[in-house]
Amino acid sequence: MLLAATDLSKRFGGVAAVRRLDFHLDPGEILAIIGPNGAGKTTVLNLLSGVFPADEGRIVLDGTDITRLPAEDRCHLGLGRAFQVVQPFPEMTVRDNLMVGALFGARQRSLAEARKRTEEVLALTGLSGRAAMPARDLTLAGEKRVEMARAIATSPRVLLLDEVMAGLLPQEADEMLAVVRAVRETGVAVLFIEHVMRVVRDLADRVVVMDFGEKIAEGSYRDVTGHPKVIEAYLGTEETGGA
Ligand SMILES: Nc1ncnc2c1ncn2[C@@H]1O[C@H](COP(=O)(O)OP(=O)(O)OP(=O)(O)O)[C@@H](O)[C@H]1O
Ligand SMILES: [Mg+2]
Repeated sequence: MLLAATDLSKRFGGVAAVRRLDFHLDPGEILAIIGPNGAGKTTVLNLLSGVFPADEGRIVLDGTDITRLPAEDRCHLGLGRAFQVVQPFPEMTVRDNLMVGALFGARQRSLAEARKRTEEVLALTGLSGRAAMPARDLTLAGEKRVEMARAIATSPRVLLLDEVMAGLLPQEADEMLAVVRAVRETGVAVLFIEHVMRVVRDLADRVVVMDFGEKIAEGSYRDVTGHPKVIEAYLGTEETGGA
């Protein structure tokens, strides 16, 4: 087990955003977390990456308890994250955006090593042709790719992706999918949140489904999409439905 969350909980005032959640990620695995809007998916990534602390529970990365560690320490230990709301540095070039990840990521690097890593990741993510472009001139698809590439440049052991395919055209999503697969081939485990079900089906080895902060199902894409609780979570939000 590479990453394990046990009994993880987080409240915001009266809202139980994550409730007693247990899940794990194996080495080299691609795990999807899905669920309706507000289910608590992004909160899980925030707890894992250290944006804020968990109220209860434990997070262990490769044998190290990281539950109370600050975000930068988690990054150094190998958690790399791309955000749902993309946050590239707009005035910097695509190359320099990746350089930030390469310099401040999981490994201590010299400037020369970081430059080498940056060129590797530009190639891996298909961004070499846009390397000199300021990030502000990118399309949404380009921004999403840079957001992901910057996280990859940190050389994570676990890559955390929050809806990196959202708003992309099918072909753009396919290209991102190929990049995620290529990253996995380099031995990185991936935990991704996604609403685009085709992407979940094609990419995930295993799926965790959340609703109202809780895990309601776990298994293969086929298993979870046929699960009555999951169907109800996605369809049964109208309580006045009266069949
Ligand atoms: N920083 C915060 N402060 C207060 N409430 C929050 C905060 N972050 C999340 N919440 C609340 O916690 C619940 C879970 O939110 P979260 O963003 O984790 O859902 P999500 O599954 O990522 O949804 P979406 O699919 O829309 O991105 C929601 O009720 C949300 O309003
Ligand atoms: Mg979210």
